[in-house]
Amino acid sequence: MQLIDRYHRKFEYLRLSITDECNFKCNYCLPDGYQRTHQKQFLSQNEITNLINAFAELGTSKVRITGGEPSLRKDFADIISQISQTEGIKKVATTTNGFNLSKHAEQWFEAGLSAINVSVDSLDANTFNLITGKNIFHKVMEGVEACASAGFEQVKVNSVLMKGLNDNDLNTFLAWIKDHPIQLRFIELMQTEDNTEFFNRYHLSGQTIKSILLKQNWICKIRHVNDGPAEVFTHPDYVGEIGLIMPYSKDFCSHCNRLRVSAVGRLHLCLFGEEGVDLRHLLQNSSDKEQLKKTIISALQEKKATHFLDLGVSGGTPHLASIGG
Ligand code: 5AD
Ligand code: SF4
Repeated sequence: MQLIDRYHRKFEYLRLSITDECNFKCNYCLPDGYQRTHQKQFLSQNEITNLINAFAELGTSKVRITGGEPSLRKDFADIISQISQTEGIKKVATTTNGFNLSKHAEQWFEAGLSAINVSVDSLDANTFNLITGKNIFHKVMEGVEACASAGFEQVKVNSVLMKGLNDNDLNTFLAWIKDHPIQLRFIELMQTEDNTEFFNRYHLSGQTIKSILLKQNWICKIRHVNDGPAEVFTHPDYVGEIGLIMPYSKDFCSHCNRLRVSAVGRLHLCLFGEEGVDLRHLLQNSSDKEQLKKTIISALQEKKATHFLDLGVSGGTPHLASIGG
């Protein structure tokens, strides 16, 4: 049994959300902050173990722990360590807003975390505050620095492109990565159920950045089979790299290599477009592993070729904090 869909895409990469909660108020995601409507029970360590064991046996080799903000969970380091000790899992990554990074980068590295993505939407402290609702730009940047000292090879920095908000920052960003080994990833703003108005006002195509980069002699790296959907650019004068994530561009989905499981144990085949398949009842006992594997494989056969974002269909995803970005 292997994770291959009807379009011959292979899924060795799992994004696992461990909480919906977040302490930031990013204007494109949770502008009013996280609302704790009813007490949701997020996956326990035991449930996570059973889930990861099944995925690992199906060929998953990389797990990214996401949220919400994953490091808000007190047992975050334990979860890292438990996933990284699973046979077959070669890489454990996380995406964080950086809030706890300066304090914990080393602990997470020691626990077995192999890669880290930090969201930094602007290099200007005021704009950062405006976008995230947190006046802690310097603390997050200290966190990015702490990753390098902790031993992480290359830190990735995510920046959501927003017209008139941070697109003018491009030169500052470029100057930064000239001598910092960072992969700076510009993510095109995606429309979700909750952010339609915001999206219409601020969406900017990544192609705009791409043409600027090409004019400045950045070179597009050749893509390998297992590479994700980012187009990566390098430049001989820069230590860092640029990645462009353009979900609205043709062919984006043909490189899809990831599956998602939400913090309440639903398997999502795509960031957009379905309510997910409940796996939770199969996560309680390790003896349900074969059934769990069969359920995952059969769900995967339903995976569609692409999303329908260009038709304005965001498929019921309220915001990305709900399904792990
Ligand atoms: N569009 C694009 N990127 C988003 N993220 C969250 N919401 C959106 C959106 N609507 C990004 C975050 C983080 C990553 C997990 O996803 O900024 O870097
Ligand atoms: Fe939190 Fe990430 Fe959403 Fe920002 S984008 S509010 S950091 S979950």
